[in-house]
Amino acid sequence: MPANPFHLAWFLQGSSIQSWGEKWTGNISEEWMTLDLFIDLARSIERAGFDYLLLEDSIYIGQNWQNSREIFLRNGMSVPRQEPSVVAAMLIGATRKLGIVPTLSTFAYHPYLTARIVGSLDQLSSGRAGWNMVTGSSDLSAQNFGMDRLPEHDKRYDMAEEYVAIVTKLWDSWEPGAIVADRQSGVLIDHTKVHQIDFVGEYYSSRGPLNSGPCPQGRPVIAQAGGSPRGKKFAAQHADTIVAHVKGPAAMKAYRQELHANMRAAGRDPATCKLLFIVTPTIAETAEEAQAKAAKRVADAHASIDTRLAQLGWITNIDFSGFDYDAPVGELSTNGHQESLRQFLLKAGKRTLREAIVDYSTTGGSVDLVGTPDQVAAQMDEVMQEVGGDGFLFTQGHMSRRSIAEITDGLVPALQQRGLVRRAYAHQHLRDNLLDF
Ligand SMILES: Cc1cc2nc3c(=O)[nH]c(=O)nc-3n(C[C@H](O)[C@H](O)[C@H](O)COP(=O)(O)O)c2cc1C
Repeated sequence: MPANPFHLAWFLQGSSIQSWGEKWTGNISEEWMTLDLFIDLARSIERAGFDYLLLEDSIYIGQNWQNSREIFLRNGMSVPRQEPSVVAAMLIGATRKLGIVPTLSTFAYHPYLTARIVGSLDQLSSGRAGWNMVTGSSDLSAQNFGMDRLPEHDKRYDMAEEYVAIVTKLWDSWEPGAIVADRQSGVLIDHTKVHQIDFVGEYYSSRGPLNSGPCPQGRPVIAQAGGSPRGKKFAAQHADTIVAHVKGPAAMKAYRQELHANMRAAGRDPATCKLLFIVTPTIAETAEEAQAKAAKRVADAHASIDTRLAQLGWITNIDFSGFDYDAPVGELSTNGHQESLRQFLLKAGKRTLREAIVDYSTTGGSVDLVGTPDQVAAQMDEVMQEVGGDGFLFTQGHMSRRSIAEITDGLVPALQQRGLVRRAYAHQHLRDNLLDF
């Protein structure tokens, strides 16, 4: 490995059915509910040495467009999607080294349940499980669980502090060596090494111990994405890996420096958390073809302004349907994803809503990567040298076996030839692979 190799992960957006009907998507509109595409994805990125597959989630159908679900259902936007812990369990059975990280929202699962689900996944995978810890961002999801609305943005993080404390205490409720399995004495588990936690909090309480037993990693990996000032502090305290969507190398570098400062302030070594930036590269056989693909993306965006704004509205709880597309974006606020909205507004500047959404939804994540596999590998190298680390999180709004192969069998070998990513896993556990370099 050279001095500065980086990490790769994949962000799977729900069922990914939204690409149905497009070229090279096979029969996804009929087959989406079976696991075949997910298994092909997981095995492909494992072959390519990715650290983990993060299963994104939300627990409602969007309605942030003319107060209707129509645009979301008609286009398969974030719907249908299955329970991520169930999908995670199946993917664990289909892989050997890849980390599997389902999203579980703190408002929807009791901390005992989360500790048990993720702990079970860690056992079933021999130490490859993680938990993408999100607090939820839509009142519509809260209403599916009998609440009127989600708590206010910063309070959600206060509640999450308690939540994470319970989950980690439950994971710690089995001391190392608790399972003795001593045939002579007939003792399977040393009961003095399994402890109640008796946590009584303001928002959550739990007695413990965890009945599913110890986790191979001790504590499974925690992933986080909070990008607001409060969210960043929270992530710096608790996360083993952070996924971020910030625009441009300068902002990426600043985000990482801030994370490291927050980690030091929290008494943590910055090397113990890996920050990955979301990207959607445009890759083709030649530079000209890649540029043509990128140009088509922009043309497609102009033809689908409504769905793109609905998608932004889905994460920010804003209904853009009544907005004037040809007026400047202006001031906006949200109780949803604050950092995503801030990034959108920053990029928008004084431009119109139409121009802003086309730009925001076609610039491929944190940095624009366009070219042949080797050109994109060189661009990624340059960005990482400027930012300082720690890697990239690929996502594809329109995923197919072909688009997966462009990354795993096109781009990754080019990165490997440059010595920028691993060729083989060094460890069994997800955290050990994450912290390997
Ligand atoms: C790359 C990325 C992935 C995310 N994945 C999810 C997800 O799967 N489910 C979810 O509810 N929120 C997800 N979020 C939202 C964050 O968890 C968080 O709620 C959001 O960034 C708002 O927090 P903030 O206001 O602190 O920025 C994601 C955010 C980013 C940037």
